[in-house]
Amino acid sequence: MIGEPPRTLAPGIAPPHRIDLGDLLLRRWQPADLIPRFEAISASYEHIHPWMEWLAQPPTLEQQRAFQATGWPGAGGGYNYGIFATTGDTGAVLGAIGLHDRLGDHALEIGYWCHVGHTGRGVITRSAEALTDVALALPGVHRTEIRCDAANVRSAAVPRRLGYRLDRLEPREIRAAAESGQGMVWVKLRM
Ligand SMILES: CC(C)(COP(=O)(O)OP(=O)(O)OC[C@H]1O[C@@H](n2cnc3c(N)ncnc32)[C@H](O)[C@@H]1OP(=O)(O)O)[C@@H](O)C(=O)NCCC(=O)NCCS
Repeated sequence: MIGEPPRTLAPGIAPPHRIDLGDLLLRRWQPADLIPRFEAISASYEHIHPWMEWLAQPPTLEQQRAFQATGWPGAGGGYNYGIFATTGDTGAVLGAIGLHDRLGDHALEIGYWCHVGHTGRGVITRSAEALTDVALALPGVHRTEIRCDAANVRSAAVPRRLGYRLDRLEPREIRAAAESGQGMVWVKLRM
């Protein structure tokens, strides 16, 4: 049996359910989000699947329902948010961002994907910036990390843009179609 990953957050400590960024709302996924989330992932399949191990095949509603029921793959200790528009197409799913408590050692990890129709507008950069600030304000958290494959240039651009430091390159299992096996670990320290 695989053991539980090490945790950073003490029992009872968790990030908020909602983070309001004005024209964007980060809100923890709810059961009612199943269909809009499925539609966003389906529309973005070609964009996301080269980089996401859980999307090796086009998604099915049953798969997404199962992810929702059991938590997301690899997301033990995960706080998973949808990113929603609050203006224009109000409530539209623009992407997703998660805060993962699985590293221990006073660290939390951030991961994300963007709806293919909403890339290049700063949706993920702004969301990751806000979640970084929230995470680093939680008691016991000394740093946040963003981990990506070195070939995932657009993903790596997010922590770079936010002033994360490239802590190290390290071998990493190839888990998705476009990955190189060279991993990047980007780190932001609490001030
Ligand atoms: C990785 C991924 C999330 C990055 O998406 P993205 O659209 O490049 O990121 P953003 O939404 O933050 O957009 C950044 C762009 O918006 C621009 N931008 C516009 N307004 C901005 C603002 N207010 N703040 C920051 N950036 C802004 C930036 O200049 C940047 O432009 P550029 O691409 O020309 O350099 C997306 O490509 C994706 O979903 N990939 C597949 C899944 C994936 O790889 N996930 C990560 C696995 S580790």
